[in-house]
Amino acid sequence: MIPSYAETYRRSLDRREEFWAEAAEAIDWERRWDRVLDDAAPPLYRWFSGARLNTCWNALDRHVAAGRGERNALIWDSPVTGTIRPFTYRQLRDETARFAGVLAGLGVASGDRVLIYMPMVPEAAMAMLACARIGAIHSVVFGGFAAHELATRIDDAKPKVIVTASCGIEINRVVPYKPLLDAAIEEATAKPLACVVLQRPMCEATLVRGRDRDWDELMAAATPADCVPVSAMDPLYILYTSGTTGIPKGVVRDNGGHAVALSWSMRYVYGVQPDEVWFTASDIGWVVGHSYIVYAPLIYGCTSVMYEGKPVGTPDAGAFWRVIAQHRVAAFFTAPTAFRAIKREDPDGRLIRTYELSRFRALFLAGERADPPTVAWAEEQLKVPVIDHWWQTETGWPIAANCQGLSPMPVKHGSCSFAVPGWDVRVLDAAAEGDARELKPGEIGAIALKLPLPPGALPTLWQADARYIGSYLSAYPGYYQTGDAGFIEPDGHLYVMTRTDDIINVAGHRLSTGGMEEVLAAHPDVAECAVMGVADALKGQVPLGLIVLKAGVNRRADEIEREAVALVRERIGPVASFKAALVVDRLPKTRSGKILRGTMRRIADGEDYRVPATIDDPAILGEITAALARIGYPAQG
Ligand code: COA
Ligand code: AMP
Repeated sequence: MIPSYAETYRRSLDRREEFWAEAAEAIDWERRWDRVLDDAAPPLYRWFSGARLNTCWNALDRHVAAGRGERNALIWDSPVTGTIRPFTYRQLRDETARFAGVLAGLGVASGDRVLIYMPMVPEAAMAMLACARIGAIHSVVFGGFAAHELATRIDDAKPKVIVTASCGIEINRVVPYKPLLDAAIEEATAKPLACVVLQRPMCEATLVRGRDRDWDELMAAATPADCVPVSAMDPLYILYTSGTTGIPKGVVRDNGGHAVALSWSMRYVYGVQPDEVWFTASDIGWVVGHSYIVYAPLIYGCTSVMYEGKPVGTPDAGAFWRVIAQHRVAAFFTAPTAFRAIKREDPDGRLIRTYELSRFRALFLAGERADPPTVAWAEEQLKVPVIDHWWQTETGWPIAANCQGLSPMPVKHGSCSFAVPGWDVRVLDAAAEGDARELKPGEIGAIALKLPLPPGALPTLWQADARYIGSYLSAYPGYYQTGDAGFIEPDGHLYVMTRTDDIINVAGHRLSTGGMEEVLAAHPDVAECAVMGVADALKGQVPLGLIVLKAGVNRRADEIEREAVALVRERIGPVASFKAALVVDRLPKTRSGKILRGTMRRIADGEDYRVPATIDDPAILGEITAALARIGYPAQG
């Protein structure tokens, strides 16, 4: 019988420890816990204290031991290289054990960090799992980040070893990774002992003698390493995510709570069975890739499709349907932006109908708000439930969803449905920081999560408990501040509408406008600047930078604008999609000197706005409106 959502939700909060202890039975433990929830040091909470396990054992070895070694664990589908390569659980276990031996041979031991800067190749998943196998902590960095961003992460994580590939492939453009890595290591203060380089035939990297080692050569000579049990509370990985400044936050994930929560989510949030094929089109550089390309499907025993390609252009807008049909995918997870790209190229869903999708049961969307027209189009074309669900790098798994393994709940477009069991979601009065006053249903406010967070959520930031508490737990004592704003309807439907900070969401990628402003401010001719996220029909939002030049600078504005665009690409990376910078005479500010970014954003998006009562000089808004109009804002249609 399918459990009731309402009953499961209540039990997850009222009998929290019993609930998660039951869920933990799905995991193999080397030693069971002393306490399910360790609340000895609030506001920091730990799950399964005293327990020991190995995440790689749970993801690979135990399935082989249970006689499921010949089933596919991973199917690498790479239209950009014309390759499809399945790996059984046994093969993936063996390759991973061998690479774990490589890492151990390079001196990596339990607790050491390994940075992984790789495209969507199966070796990336092996490298992650190999770290887990020997108790090392991985930190995967997305390939679309530039050398400087990589250097920042190297300096924070201080990896002993870096694992990379010679290149990534962006549709038909080869992106050499090694020069970026070399530049990052040059810039970073913390130097790795060794780099392992996977040479791809389309672009071989030059190896630095004495530091860089060839993946294949090391693998050929390695002795496979066994699983090393670690504490349930030991870090499995660090994943850096955008904060409000250019310094990223190192989100820590533990081993025990993570394994329990992800396994639970596969059954009850996603409603899949262990023998089914699961496909997440994201990147291992993002949390979605960590949780739902690698760890959750493998821990749960599914076959996971790892896709090196795009929604369109590899070769066309039917790419996802081809993958789903060919590998008999049961459930598929991607970002709404991918659907907007597909809809733009195949508005009538002609390509969808050329594939046999009878096994396909559900589509999950996350990473940004799923706009109702996109959801409606996907439902109409695919004729399966389309589930918008909400989560963050920090939470590691969904906070709100229409749980497919629990009793059916009504769907409302624009809402990411209901709080998932384990998450105590509240809407607080954003103006009442320090006080945590709850709002009535329907009232919009700061979305917060009452502590303790469930297993799988971040226990802290890497070596920065104080920053963790300051960034997330201080504004509303007793709550985790999500940074999102929205409301809950009386029937429990949650709507996540916007961020309360200066984070923007570009094609499902989370970026800091503050970080971009720091880059622009470093340009020698820039006196001050403001970056805001403006609406974009494909990517949801794109950044737009307004720049005021220093007095006496009399260079051409368009030249400086081009330099500004190039600087953000060079310092942050192409993923920022920073394509528009505009020189203006002045920026609108409050009398206390705060730049009115929100008002400018509304002007750029063609929304109504009120002239803020605190504005210093209202005439500047007219100047900004005229300047934006010159570059086509508000955009038509
Ligand atoms: N390595 C190097 N460069 C990368 C990269 C990577 N791993 N990923 C992206 N880039 C580059 C792109 O080539 C592009 O460069 P360009 O400015 O020279 O064209 C830039 O970064 C922006 O990339 P992207 O955001 O992917 O935009 P796009 O215009 O190439 O494609 C979409 C648009 C909608 C198809 C694409 O954004 C997409 O597939 N989005 C889904 C996002 C997703 O899965 N998010 C994960 C959260 S669930
Ligand atoms: P990331 O940490 O990169 O996963 O980004 C998390 C942020 O993306 C959230 O805080 C939200 O702002 C946004 N987000 C993710 N999923 C959704 C969703 N389903 N609806 C609305 N916003 C979302």
